[in-house]
Amino acid sequence: MIKSIITGVGHYAPENVVTNDDLSKLMATNDEWITERTGIKERRHRKNRIDAEETTSYYGMRASEIALKNANLTAKDIDYIIFATLSPDYFFPGCGVLLQDMLGCGTIGALDVRNQCSGFVYALSVADAFIKSGIYKNILVVGAEIHSFGLDFSDKGRGVSVIFGDGAGAVVLSAKENSDSAGIIAVNMHSEGKYAEELAVKFPGTKLGWSDRLLTNPEAITQEDIYPYMNGNFVFKHAVTRFPETILEALQKAGKTMDDLDLLIPHQANIRIAQYVQQLLKLPDEKVFVNIQKYGNTTAASIPIALSEAILEGRMKRGDLVCLSAFGSGFTWGSVLLEY
Ligand SMILES: CC(C)(COP(=O)(O)OP(=O)(O)OC[C@H]1O[C@@H](n2cnc3c(N)ncnc32)[C@H](O)[C@@H]1OP(=O)(O)O)[C@@H](O)C(=O)NCCC(=O)NCCS
Repeated sequence: MIKSIITGVGHYAPENVVTNDDLSKLMATNDEWITERTGIKERRHRKNRIDAEETTSYYGMRASEIALKNANLTAKDIDYIIFATLSPDYFFPGCGVLLQDMLGCGTIGALDVRNQCSGFVYALSVADAFIKSGIYKNILVVGAEIHSFGLDFSDKGRGVSVIFGDGAGAVVLSAKENSDSAGIIAVNMHSEGKYAEELAVKFPGTKLGWSDRLLTNPEAITQEDIYPYMNGNFVFKHAVTRFPETILEALQKAGKTMDDLDLLIPHQANIRIAQYVQQLLKLPDEKVFVNIQKYGNTTAASIPIALSEAILEGRMKRGDLVCLSAFGSGFTWGSVLLEY
């Protein structure tokens, strides 16, 4: 039977560190509020708000190069790309094709996934299905974001802009028939579209318009339309319900229990969400990986960055049972359970 094995992981974050104190110079916020409510101490931002070179696909490329090296593969060995992001270089085409060109892959398929904070687990679940069905052998799965170009750094935007950061992570998922590890053993993905507008950027789009509105009636475009809107309390309440549900569903599907789990890598949304879930599932600190203090919420990049750091820090070893779990805009949520 073909197994889906993670053969290489890498991450990249821009050098420019933005601390809570730095943000307090731009808006009415402070380190105490941000730390207490979110656990975030600093995040990375692209140095320039506008930069034609350092784009989301470029970040994805930097992370992918490391993942490929760790997998002992070259770009020519990759037979499919799946790129998750909510902050693409262009409105279209997506980042997958740009990465295909940047890395010098063959004319392979390149798919973009638009599932925000759940983007990476959704992407991994698609890669898993392709691998297990024998269609592809080595798939590059990438999550990358540049949030800093599109946040409202005025007082009005402080509830959202302090949370998000820039970065990228990548994984090579490979088909193996003889492997000690079982690889990906269970996935579940969910959505509830009735809450789409609880966490969204609405402009541009076919609902609010685009070129007509920009050219003929620009004053009708409000700040609420162009900046991310988040109903924070509402998102929080749903997240703390859906995270435990999807984690337990994955374990149950694989015939495993919470005791079998070696490491939970949750999407790094907010440290209080992670702590709540940890308490509910009665997991000790060493079984939950948290790095939100350094990067903030990097949306589709958060799980692969955390995965990469967990491996580098020796928190995740071959054979470990690991659950990757996410919740986010859509609403969407899901988990990937794997033996590393
Ligand atoms: C965003 C979040 C941190 C806000 O925390 P909260 O406890 O709900 O805080 P509230 O939004 O109720 O705001 C409380 C007060 O702090 C203020 N505030 C908001 N942002 C602030 C900031 N950056 N600095 C200082 N004060 C701030 C609010 O204006 C409000 O003031 P008021 O009481 O005078 O009206 C929290 O709701 C959250 O984490 N939600 C989930 C977000 C998330 O995970 N998103 C990603 C999904 S994947």
